[in-house]
Amino acid sequence: MTLSSLKPRPLIAGNWKMNGLAQALDEARAVAGGVDARPAAARVAICPPATLLHRLSQALEGSSVLTGGQDCHVRTSGAHTGDIAAAMLVDAGAALVILGHSERREDHGETSALVAAKVEAALAAGLEPIICVGESLARREAGSALQVVTAQVRESLPAALAGQAFSIAYEPIWAIGTGRTATIADIEEMHASIRAQLISMFGESGKAPPILYGGSVKPDNAAEILRAAEVGGALVGGASLKAADFLAIIAAA
Ligand code: PGA
Repeated sequence: MTLSSLKPRPLIAGNWKMNGLAQALDEARAVAGGVDARPAAARVAICPPATLLHRLSQALEGSSVLTGGQDCHVRTSGAHTGDIAAAMLVDAGAALVILGHSERREDHGETSALVAAKVEAALAAGLEPIICVGESLARREAGSALQVVTAQVRESLPAALAGQAFSIAYEPIWAIGTGRTATIADIEEMHASIRAQLISMFGESGKAPPILYGGSVKPDNAAEILRAAEVGGALVGGASLKAADFLAIIAAA
């Protein structure tokens, strides 16, 4: 296999978080209309709240825009009130799932070990995981960002990922929803470090997974971020809620 055949297309994924009622399907339709009219260089996905996943997948049927979940449980079924199994996401039309987002790690005490178990569950159901890592402001200021993220990558990625399609999203917590973004130099340093860690864990196939950047990606900074070395796409929160903004980010890829 040549190195270029290892390089997948970039991925631009919208993370709607806990936003969106039925009306929001119109925004997703507008995104799909835009992408399908002018095919994007990147693969495009929208990860809505679970309540919209099935309707969104149906609304986007026939479009190249993929849909994804925002979390899944480690088990396939059972007495886990409020949780969603990976196969249920697939049943609702999802192709991908975001796992280990910092808001899950913070709000729900998710550890990297739990994230790794969720990744295994996602793979078993046929979902492509987007695995999130990122340091807090305190860790960044203490100079331990690289160390923290390296440990998260090592502990959140199970051996089962070898040779599978997946991506990593580097999202510095202090850049999420704040309007602050990491500098290009900081992004490149972190992405290079993550790439080295992937290669040390998975050998040659560790060169393939796209490493997305996330944290206040907007139409006006997307091109510069997406051009940076080892940036293989973006995980977009706030700016993915408006079709015009998300389409502008997609066009920058
Ligand atoms: P943001 O969120 O683009 O609103 O900063 C990114 C994310 O948390 O995935």
